[in-house]
Amino acid sequence: MTTTLLRGRLLTFNHAPHSMTDSTSYRYESDGGLLMGDGKIIATGDFETVKAQAPVGTIEIDHRPHLILPGFIDTHIHFPQMQVVGSYAANLLEWLHDYTFLEEQRFADADHATRFAGHFFDELTRHGTTTASAYCSVHKTSADAFFAESLKRNMRMVAGKVMMDRNAPEALRDTPQDGYDDTKQVIADWHGKGRNHVAITPRFAITSSPEQLEMAQTLAREHPDLHIQTHLSENHDEIRTTLALYPHAKDYTDIYAHYGLLGPKSLFGHCIHLSDREADALSESGSVAVFCPTSNLFLGSGLFALKHLERRQKPVRVSVATDIGGGTSYSMLRTLDEAYKVLQLQGERLNPFDSFYHMTLGNARALSLENHIGTLDVGTDADLVVLNMAATPAMALKAEVVQTLAEELFLLQTMGDDRAVAQTYVAGNAVKVSSETGTAK
Ligand code: GUN
Ligand code: ZN
Repeated sequence: MTTTLLRGRLLTFNHAPHSMTDSTSYRYESDGGLLMGDGKIIATGDFETVKAQAPVGTIEIDHRPHLILPGFIDTHIHFPQMQVVGSYAANLLEWLHDYTFLEEQRFADADHATRFAGHFFDELTRHGTTTASAYCSVHKTSADAFFAESLKRNMRMVAGKVMMDRNAPEALRDTPQDGYDDTKQVIADWHGKGRNHVAITPRFAITSSPEQLEMAQTLAREHPDLHIQTHLSENHDEIRTTLALYPHAKDYTDIYAHYGLLGPKSLFGHCIHLSDREADALSESGSVAVFCPTSNLFLGSGLFALKHLERRQKPVRVSVATDIGGGTSYSMLRTLDEAYKVLQLQGERLNPFDSFYHMTLGNARALSLENHIGTLDVGTDADLVVLNMAATPAMALKAEVVQTLAEELFLLQTMGDDRAVAQTYVAGNAVKVSSETGTAK
């Protein structure tokens, strides 16, 4: 077994920080060592102590003075929307109709899907993201291309073939039976292969007939361990259209509840305009509300009530995500910077420890994958990000006056992007692709 020993400053979380000064929420090692082998973390701690445990022949990499954290996790992203980013639209439904539903048709083509799978994973790792929960297109080809690339790179990924059988161009529609059959085949072909996880993925209630949501329910019953992902309560016109299509539902959330799609492995993108009843239903079922700040601002969808959802008597589990291509950056640093501003506009605070908790352990818990990813705990996957707070001239100037770990994290979040990612490790291997040349560093 080849073993690698990293040296740098280590940061990992134990639990969500109760406040900016909650030093029990994280572990920080100022001269840390992290030993990895066979894709796992073997030992962590003070550098000299860990070095003493390293077998002869261990490769040593010195990342000082940078910070080493668990790799970032993105809980909602669309694989076929890399060329949709930055599309000029007034709102969600116009954006879907005018751009997204055209672009996604190209993923019926296996060569196209394969080419973009390469680009997709290059972008994720360039930005320090090592796990994502992704939507493919309606075509099985897109899921095949996605999972083949993920397997090749040995990444821990959650993804699903989108199910959509109405209110979209014909080339982007399946049928309840095809959606079921193709999802079954994707599960058989990819779930549990390498670190791949298949998610049941009805796009949203507007594009799924009641018959299709029934099929999604059947899939969920047959595969209770699988993730389920969809969109919920993103935009007022979307909500009105949805309720007209499901006139017997109490509200938008009730549609998914009726088909048994709520639960601890269910991820609901957006959840901006929820009623108290809907938030209670998410809370009681253990469902996750996914905050996509750059997308919500870009499409003018609204301000996600992160703190309200976390603080209410029946708290709702939350996660954070880029939502490429409604979202505008692959970077979880940029994403949490926008999250911070969304909270500022609501008179709320998001402290830097809270932000970095969400990008790592918080999102791992949202995916119920905290035993594998999201920490630097021994025995978990060696998926890591190495961050440089002085990555650009402007950041280096600000870094001169940084005195505390909280200030460093806040600088990284406020000014950082892929340039602040000095290296990304997937299963113990350095994988960051340089921004300039497109070749491995
Ligand atoms: N609702 C249904 N599909 C989508 C999508 O692709 N992006 C966003 N932001 N919302 C959606
Ligand atoms: Zn989305």
